[in-house]
Amino acid sequence: MSLRFRTVSEIGTPPPIEWVWENRIARGYVTMLGGAGGVGKSALVASLEVAVLSGQMFLGGGTIQGPIIHGDFDTDARAQIPWLERAVVGQGVSRDVLQHITYVDSESGGFMDEAGLAALRAHAIETGAVLIVIDAFTSAFPMIRGNDAGEVMQVMAAFRALAKETNAAVVILDHTPKPMANMPEGRGLLGSTIKSAGARAVHLLSRVKPSEVGGQDVLKLEAHKNNLAAVGEPVGVLRVWEGDGLRFELYELPDADQNMPSTKARKALEAYLDDRAGTVIPRKELFDQIITRLNVSERTVKRAMAEVVSDGAAQVIALHGRGNPVGYKSVLEPADPGPLDSLTPPDSSVEVLAPNQNSVSDSILFDSPPDLKSPVGPKSFEEERW
Ligand SMILES: Nc1ncnc2c1ncn2[C@@H]1O[C@H](COP(=O)(O)OP(=O)(O)OP(=O)(O)O)[C@@H](O)[C@H]1O
Ligand SMILES: [Mg+2]
Repeated sequence: MSLRFRTVSEIGTPPPIEWVWENRIARGYVTMLGGAGGVGKSALVASLEVAVLSGQMFLGGGTIQGPIIHGDFDTDARAQIPWLERAVVGQGVSRDVLQHITYVDSESGGFMDEAGLAALRAHAIETGAVLIVIDAFTSAFPMIRGNDAGEVMQVMAAFRALAKETNAAVVILDHTPKPMANMPEGRGLLGSTIKSAGARAVHLLSRVKPSEVGGQDVLKLEAHKNNLAAVGEPVGVLRVWEGDGLRFELYELPDADQNMPSTKARKALEAYLDDRAGTVIPRKELFDQIITRLNVSERTVKRAMAEVVSDGAAQVIALHGRGNPVGYKSVLEPADPGPLDSLTPPDSSVEVLAPNQNSVSDSILFDSPPDLKSPVGPKSFEEERW
């Protein structure tokens, strides 16, 4: 290999990114779209293709209008073409746009090899394709061991070269591993790290539990990584069937995070401390209150408290006594300091700890008896915000 040695000014500035689909799929680069089998990748991509063929917006993002090559190694033309037909109807465009998509599959039922890639490159240059779709990685390259970094890297390098040489966006559909209990969306792509590293953006498609979206048919599209634009929030995508047509529409996802015990605990801790601003609440008292009221675990409350402190919403206060007890205090000023309070000298029995000392205090057994020297909260318990 011969190396090139250049200064920054010799290299110059890169040309602006041309988005085939705004902020998600760029010309000249490889993008992966992953999802579990049957989730709707091919259908979604068919709708995107119709949007690109006709220059329509797609799910709120602009597109570049241009020819497309669709490489299908997963099913066969009879299975994929109906998605294009449905998209044309659903998106209200003329069927004529389908003239500008070249459908590629293997005559012999084989898979992609160097000759196949070269033919794809030549056809993309000849047609001026702005988008090349490969559906799907596993079926185009069944001989590749997904967990063999070297083999996957070679394929990804070939696709990167294809994207660069043709200036088309190369979009590879791929499968995700089975979701795990603690990570329902799965862990990214199958055999993922090298595939993800070889692509500039990886988008994942998953199904939202119908119970969370009023029984509707909603998918979640999220950027697993995006090196060319901000990752952005996941978006909901509603599948709308109307007669022979299918279209995808943006759908506002429920804010699942709001219902997480950790989020609830954090809010409750902040509210409890803010309501008693100016007062140090002993850790045991505070945690007992939140655990009982929210019916959450001590672990959840501990973690939530650590977040409240690291967010700067409360301070850890060392209380003198056996077992080095600590308490917490809102950073807010007391709402209405009475005339007497303002005359009270600062409480010298408490010491403010830096947020990073919280982890030390976390190890303290909190059921050691609090030896309080500071006042506890007000009596107006019923008025708390939850
Ligand atoms: N006629 C139909 N009416 C309603 N839903 C349909 C119809 N045909 C297919 N579907 C839905 O579309 C899904 C398949 O979508 P699609 O083929 O795009 O998935 P995929 O992610 O590409 O799957 P794979 O990984 O197997 O290629 C089916 O699981 C089914 O739920
Ligand atoms: Mg498919």
